[in-house]
Amino acid sequence: MLQPNPFIITADYYGDRFFCDRHAETEAIENNIANGRNTVLISSRRMGKSGLIAHVFNRDFVHSNFKSFSIDLYPTSSLSEMILLLAKEIIGQLKSRGEKFYESFLGIVKSLRPGFKVDSITGQFVFDLSLGEIVRPTDSLKEIFQYLESSEIPCVVAMDEFQQIAEYPDKNVLELLRSHVQKCKHTWFIFAGSDRRMMEKLFNNPSEPFYMSCSPLYLDAIDYENYLDFSEKHFIDAGKRLAEDCFKRVYELFEGHTWYVQRLMNELYAWTKPGEEADLPMMENALTFVIKSYARTFQEQMNTYPEAQKQLLIAISKEGNAEQVTSVAFCKKHAMKSPSTVQSALRVLHDKGIVRKEGNSYSITNRLLSIWLKAEY
Ligand SMILES: Nc1ncnc2c1ncn2[C@@H]1O[C@H](COP(=O)(O)OP(=O)(O)OP(=O)(O)O)[C@@H](O)[C@H]1O
Ligand SMILES: [Mg+2]
Repeated sequence: MLQPNPFIITADYYGDRFFCDRHAETEAIENNIANGRNTVLISSRRMGKSGLIAHVFNRDFVHSNFKSFSIDLYPTSSLSEMILLLAKEIIGQLKSRGEKFYESFLGIVKSLRPGFKVDSITGQFVFDLSLGEIVRPTDSLKEIFQYLESSEIPCVVAMDEFQQIAEYPDKNVLELLRSHVQKCKHTWFIFAGSDRRMMEKLFNNPSEPFYMSCSPLYLDAIDYENYLDFSEKHFIDAGKRLAEDCFKRVYELFEGHTWYVQRLMNELYAWTKPGEEADLPMMENALTFVIKSYARTFQEQMNTYPEAQKQLLIAISKEGNAEQVTSVAFCKKHAMKSPSTVQSALRVLHDKGIVRKEGNSYSITNRLLSIWLKAEY
């Protein structure tokens, strides 16, 4: 039978076997849940937040003791949309438990009753609610919390890309949510987000409703040795070998950033035949191949930026981690017009998440784009 590639690069969770390490983080979240603490999970994009949530939910501790619900707020732009998503997630899980559970939900979340219809063909309940049918979103939110709290089995709710809520036009959503969350006695939360600036503002700023309301967990790169063991094991299981210097180069190039390491290991695994070894020269070829496969996307992306932003991206890519980007010296070195031009280009690129800031240094968020830019210009 065809062996699937064990280095997963999609957002789906395929189980323990394909999930590397994160033991300490998993334990920290489980500990938080066990002790009635909510978690705020922060990392840069593609480091593995969603994977970690799926992993925690898949493990015995949550599986056997809690009902778990997970929503990704990224596509939502209002409280009503959030409610619809949360209701669909809850109802989706109730489906397998039968009509009795629907009825208990309906008994409490009365405001969403119009969404429950009987399918004329199968005669079964279906939940089909349009946004327009959520007429009193704040009541619906309150009822959903009442439902969660009324459950005999305690609940864990994960809200991914939580910072999205700050963009909703509805008034005081964070205050409202905070007041419900803080009253919960049987429902625990994991709030995850990749917009570090916004997440830190929401959870670390004394004037924000969620200030110090959760245990923070910052997700960094997976430990080198553990990632090496994991990768080697998958190669060995398929009768292949992985040279350590090859893995080391991948890990160092991407500073262990999960998706990028996965992407390269996925390619190397596919290139290596049983009985063969993935080595350093193969790694360089695989990297060139992967970068090339995205070249057109990157070129089109670059075409959308005004000249100053484009120049700044190229300059940052040359530096890798660029410091003092708004200095005269930086401008001179990279033939940028003036510090003020850099400043305004930087602001836009940072706000859009194209460039990220770590301490005082800036780098390009997409590490493959960064490598491509450096080579191309
Ligand atoms: N511990 C892990 N072991 C192996 N692969 C992982 C692990 N964690 C995440 N991945 C993989 O890395 C990729 C990025 O992970 P994930 O989508 O969880 O990141 P994220 O931080 O939620 O990203 P985003 O900020 O874009 O939502 C996915 O392809 C996922 O399958
Ligand atoms: Mg995610």
